[in-house]
Amino acid sequence: MYPVLSGQNIYSKFKPESKSSDLRVSAERHERDLQVVSNRLQPASTQPKQRLDNEIGVEMETNSILSAIWETVVLLALVAYSWAHAIFISCLPTSWIAKDVRGEIALITGAGSGLGRGVALRLAKLGCNLVLWDIDETSNQATGDETRKLGVRAHTYKVDLCNREEIYKVAAKVKSDVGRVDILINNAGIVTGRDYMKCPDSLIQKTMEVNIMAHFWTVKAFLPGMMERNHGHVVTIASSAGYFGVRSLSDYNASKFAAVGFDESLRYELNQEGTDGINTTVVAPYFINTGMFDGVKLKFQKLLPMVEPDYACDRIVDAILRNQQVLMFPRTLYFMLALKGFLPCETQTLLNKACGLMNTMDDFKGRAKKE
Ligand SMILES: NC(=O)c1ccc[n+]([C@@H]2O[C@H](COP(=O)([O-])OP(=O)(O)OC[C@H]3O[C@@H](n4cnc5c(N)ncnc54)[C@H](O)[C@@H]3O)[C@@H](O)[C@H]2O)c1
Repeated sequence: MYPVLSGQNIYSKFKPESKSSDLRVSAERHERDLQVVSNRLQPASTQPKQRLDNEIGVEMETNSILSAIWETVVLLALVAYSWAHAIFISCLPTSWIAKDVRGEIALITGAGSGLGRGVALRLAKLGCNLVLWDIDETSNQATGDETRKLGVRAHTYKVDLCNREEIYKVAAKVKSDVGRVDILINNAGIVTGRDYMKCPDSLIQKTMEVNIMAHFWTVKAFLPGMMERNHGHVVTIASSAGYFGVRSLSDYNASKFAAVGFDESLRYELNQEGTDGINTTVVAPYFINTGMFDGVKLKFQKLLPMVEPDYACDRIVDAILRNQQVLMFPRTLYFMLALKGFLPCETQTLLNKACGLMNTMDDFKGRAKKE
């Protein structure tokens, strides 16, 4: 829109300037103003065309408003449908909708103990062949022996997940020894459990390397094969500490928030690629009685007790069989996450204190180091 040219305005615009560059600018402005005046003085014969243009403009605007309304209605209908569908599927028993993993090859990191071993045994019972990775050769071997007794093939490899080169080297060996990997379960994890300022740099780095950086390297090694076949499953064992901060868990929290973010971004990327045969699952459990968090203090033990490893492993395998994308347990966590979305930070701190979460790690011992 051009400014209204009052007498004062016109005078000030045509006022001679002192410098030469200013003169050029002033001349250009002069020309523009003349153009405006001449437009206004155009003969009446051009006005019907202008009216026609205006009418076309109004019609186009109405059409785009109508199509925006239509798109919104369609989107709302799709949202309602997918929501109802998800609720319906979540009500069905796993046996009705479970995928068949017989003959599939699952790679599990941290398979030597806790959840890794429990999940390996359950998948073996379902006829899944295994590739087991752990830094602890003896315990990993024990998992291998137990799973072989169930009639499946199990290959064990010693891997230090802090070492990217080693991950790629062992991944190449797995491809030549075993071939493909259908289900990749990034499970290995460690926890320091110290106040941030008392946490040595080396431990912070190690936590990040095992709990998240290793996920990048293993996925990079095995996802291309899954994409070629449009078949596979990437499972990320994160933690409720990937959604809720806890005092004295800064490095662990950071690594688990990263794992949750990695899974979410990867899920969207695979969706956009159209690789509908590849699924992702992120698991975010509360404290589990595997020994990893030995010594933690829970104020409302009766209300929210530590989860038993057997229950945790059952839920994880269930989620894999159902292609469930996000799994949190106990279910209270879903409610707490929704609450976190709209409670002010001060209120969250107040509730954290009231629930004893500020002191959870005070007597933390963790898993005893092996000699
Ligand atoms: N236990 C819990 O309370 C709890 C809660 C939420 C999430 N999680 C997550 O579940 C996963 C499994 O936990 P868990 O309780 O079974 O732990 P765990 O300590 O029983 O098992 C972890 C395994 O990872 C292996 N590992 C550690 N560092 C490694 C490395 N550098 N390279 C290769 N392997 C290595 C260990 O040898 C061990 O076998 C972890 O990612 C953990 O963060 C555990």
